Amino acid sequence: MTYELITVRTEADKVGIITLNRPKQLNALNEQLMTELGTALHAFDADPAIGCMIITGSEKAFAAGADIGSMASYSFANVYKDDFITRNWEKIRSVRKPVIAAVSGFALGGGCELAMMCDFIIAADNARFGQPEIKLGIIPGAGGTQRLPRAVGKAKAMDLALTGRMMDALEAERSGLVSRVVPLDKLMDETLGAALMISEFSQMAVMAVKESVNRAFEGTLNDGIMFERRLFHALFATSDQKEGMDAFVNKRKAVFTHQ
Ligand code: HXC
Repeated sequence: MTYELITVRTEADKVGIITLNRPKQLNALNEQLMTELGTALHAFDADPAIGCMIITGSEKAFAAGADIGSMASYSFANVYKDDFITRNWEKIRSVRKPVIAAVSGFALGGGCELAMMCDFIIAADNARFGQPEIKLGIIPGAGGTQRLPRAVGKAKAMDLALTGRMMDALEAERSGLVSRVVPLDKLMDETLGAALMISEFSQMAVMAVKESVNRAFEGTLNDGIMFERRLFHALFATSDQKEGMDAFVNKRKAVFTHQ
């Protein structure tokens, strides 16, 4: 598959790296880019050698939002009938292996929402996050009013979505939106380190962590605890559990076969 608006590569045959590549438009997200992104993510997800994925952008912008130019003239009938634009974006949620967002520069509007659809965010110190849709007479449309309050709480989510202001990387880390902040020139090393570490673990255990943590945001505590317990028990049916525990007991490094 050839891509025009993203570039795709692998690291050590274990990590799939997708770089958003519309630099002149600060990686504004249009249909084509999101289709390419969905296709690339699912291709990596289906590749047994790949254990983790990274989505990143340029130094200046992870993504400055949905493409305003292409939205400007749309009517309600256009966007409602086509389920614009997020129909396409929902595909990202069905990726089962972990996806890390490596964010430098602007992550605004749909760009912030895309980062939040990933499993966690590692930010460069120049990263800036925001939901500025209010300034355009609209509201976030790809989960911003739902995932942002879950990540940073109601007060800050309201502040950001109602004023359209940006928050810097340190505020984003303080408020729980990002898991780590690193100097810009260390962003890819740090993210690759995390991704390579994840890709060494049992894929089944890794996917179970992702499913179970996501469940924490979707139901009651009681349901979540039951769900986690069932997955926990199920992993005792895998060879990787035997390998992991045997390696610990015998003081050697575990080699997981994802069986
Ligand atoms: C289309 C965009 C764009 C966007 C920037 N550009 N953001 N084009 N859609 N979202 C383009 C500019 O028009 C400009 O093109 C070029 O990228 C560089 O941008 P500048 O504004 O010149 O750069 P700068 O002064 O550094 O300002 C950066 C910025 C600003 C603060 C990020 O560009 C900005 O505010 N952008 C819009 C952010 C936004 O409102 N995002 C939310 C979109 S709505 P030219 O051709 O002039 O050089 C949204 C809804 C999601 O995301 C709904 C669900 C999917």
